[in-house]
Amino acid sequence: MFTVEKIRADFPILTQQINNQPLVYLDSAATSQKPQSVITATERFYTQQNANVHRGRHTLSEQATSAYEAARDKIARYFNVQSREIVWTKGATESINLVANGLSQQLDKNSSIVISPLEHHANIVPWQQLAMKTGASLHVLPIQSNATININACVKFLKSVKPTVFAITHASNALGNITNLGPLLRTVDEFNTITLIDGAQSAMHLQPNLQSLDCDFYVFSAHKMLGPTGIGGLYGKYERLNSLLPNQTGGEMIESVSLTHSTFRDAPGKFEAGTPNIAGVLGFAAAIDYLNSLDKVAVHAHEQMLFSYAMSKLNNIDGIKIYSDIDSNIGTICFNYKDEHPFDIATLLDGYGVAVRSGHHCTQPLMTHLGINGSVRASFAFYNTVQDIDAFIKALQESIALLD
Ligand code: ALA
Repeated sequence: MFTVEKIRADFPILTQQINNQPLVYLDSAATSQKPQSVITATERFYTQQNANVHRGRHTLSEQATSAYEAARDKIARYFNVQSREIVWTKGATESINLVANGLSQQLDKNSSIVISPLEHHANIVPWQQLAMKTGASLHVLPIQSNATININACVKFLKSVKPTVFAITHASNALGNITNLGPLLRTVDEFNTITLIDGAQSAMHLQPNLQSLDCDFYVFSAHKMLGPTGIGGLYGKYERLNSLLPNQTGGEMIESVSLTHSTFRDAPGKFEAGTPNIAGVLGFAAAIDYLNSLDKVAVHAHEQMLFSYAMSKLNNIDGIKIYSDIDSNIGTICFNYKDEHPFDIATLLDGYGVAVRSGHHCTQPLMTHLGINGSVRASFAFYNTVQDIDAFIKALQESIALLD
C-alpha cells in the first residue's frame, strides 16, 4: 500500500529545515531525492566491495563485476529490453552525444535530422553539431504556439521530411508535457528513420516498456530516478547500437591492440572505455530496487493528484500564467507571475524553504517559442504531499504580495 508518510521516512533529506522552514522540495525534474537504500548501497561499495570491474581474478574484483553486470540486467528488465542493449554513461546528455557522434559516418548532405522546440539543450546541440559535421539538414517539428503537439500536423510534416534521424523528448523537462510518441514513431518507421527518445524525465514517472515503444535509442539519467548523479544510460536496439562509432577509446573497450591498430568489442563494451562509475551503477541498482518495490499505479495516482491540486490552486491566483499542458503531464508546472522575474519568485520562495527551479531550464528555444525569457518551475515526485503544495501556494501568495 502507498502511504506517503512511510515513503518520506525513506528519504533522509526531506526532514531538513531550509531557512528555518521545513524543506518543500519541488525540484525533482532537476534531480530527484535519494532514499537511504541508495545512499547505503553507494557507501557499501566503498567500505566493503571496492575493486575494479572486468579486470581482476581476485574475489573482490569478481564480486564487483557480478554486481555491476547484475545492475545492467536490472535496468534492462526495468525497461523490458536485453542487457546487451544497455550502455552505462554519465547520464542522458552523454548518451545523446554518444549517439550523435556515433552516427557521424552514417549521415551526409542528403540526410535530415528532425528535432522539436520542446527539447532540452542536450537534445538540440549534439544534433546541430552532427548536422554541421555531416552537412545533414536540421528540421524542427511544427508544434503549436502553446507548445502542445497537433499529431496530424506533425505526422504530415514527418511524412514530408522523411527524416534520417528523429530525436524528441518523451516528457518536456520545462513543462512536464508528455509527448504522444506512438503516432510519431509509427509514421517515421516506414522511412527507416533512426529514432532517439530523451527519457530523462519519463524514465521514473512513466517507466516505458521500450520494446513496445519501439524506438531505436532511449536515454536516461539515474539521478532523476532516485539514483546517484554522474551515472545513467543509453538503450539502443542492438543492431543500431552496435553500428555506432565509439565515442571514447581506450582500455576495456578493445578486443585487441597493437601499436598501430586496434579492434573493438561489440556493444555495450565498445562504448565503456576506462574505469566506470561502479559505485554509481550499484547505487542506481538500489534505486531501481526501490522503484520496483512501489505500487506503481498508486504512485502515479498520487503524483497526478498533486499535479491537479497544485494546478487548481495556481489557477485561482490572479496574474499567474501557466504554460504546462494540464491534460497530459508527468507532474511539472511551469508558470510566471505577471512580469515578475522568475529568479525573484524563486528566491522569495526559497526564504520559505520552498525549492523550485527558475530561468530557461536549459530550453531557450522553448522559452522563445512561448514568447518568454524564462519561468518558474515546480516539479513533483511521489514523495511530495498535499501539505507541500499548500506550503508552496501560501509562500507564493506571500511572495507576490511583497512584489505587488
Ligand atoms: N535537466 C534538468 C532540469 O530540467 C537539470 O532541471
